[in-house]
Amino acid sequence: MSLQQSNVHAFPRAPAAELALPRPRKEGGWPLLSALRLRRSTREYANRPLAPQVLSDLLWAAFGVNRESGEQTAPYWRHVMVIDVCIAMADGVWRYEPKPHSLTRLSREDIRAQTGSQDFVAAAPLNLIYVAHGERMAELPREQRRLYASVDSAFIGQNVYLFCASEGLATVFRGAVDYPRLEKTLGLPPDQFVTFAQTVGYPRL
Ligand SMILES: Cc1cc2nc3c(=O)[nH]c(=O)nc-3n(C[C@H](O)[C@H](O)[C@H](O)COP(=O)(O)O)c2cc1C
Repeated sequence: MSLQQSNVHAFPRAPAAELALPRPRKEGGWPLLSALRLRRSTREYANRPLAPQVLSDLLWAAFGVNRESGEQTAPYWRHVMVIDVCIAMADGVWRYEPKPHSLTRLSREDIRAQTGSQDFVAAAPLNLIYVAHGERMAELPREQRRLYASVDSAFIGQNVYLFCASEGLATVFRGAVDYPRLEKTLGLPPDQFVTFAQTVGYPRL
């Protein structure tokens, strides 16, 4: 069932459910150079879920608003918010809303196994899915949309890497994704596409 379909079933009249996140911590963590020293990709995860505060801090670090002007922790093409950071967890799929720092529920389905072709994605507590709005890049030729959207995603991905290094979390940025299948599951319209995915969790000890 696509997310568009499941939206229709889950929320026939009401607007999509919003979930406020705890206020993110914007101070602390390891010094940047220590986080750089610790940054790495990890492919073995414990299956315990992320604490709500950790999820909140992670999403703020990834692509949260860090200035009065409304700009964000990662640079992005021409002030156009091309990338939606979606998250697939056991309780369903959510979209991160940077301005209110909240989540919008897109589906109650557990689609983690569909976010990548490696085994660990199904059991890790969280998979980020970077969804690009090609229709917001209408002035760019199609292949440049992919390039720019991939760069936007990679900056967010590196923020996630550094946050995880600082917090003792495990992560890996991933291109090994069955894109047509995932895009179908997400119910994306033709101009939208997935750039990459990224798993986050506690390392398996
Ligand atoms: C564009 C891109 C795609 C990647 N895709 C995958 C992937 O599908 N699966 C995976 O396990 N790692 C993936 N990686 C992670 C790299 O394999 C990893 O960064 C590289 O081996 C260096 O290891 P390190 O991150 O621990 O320094 C990807 C990294 C990048 C930048």
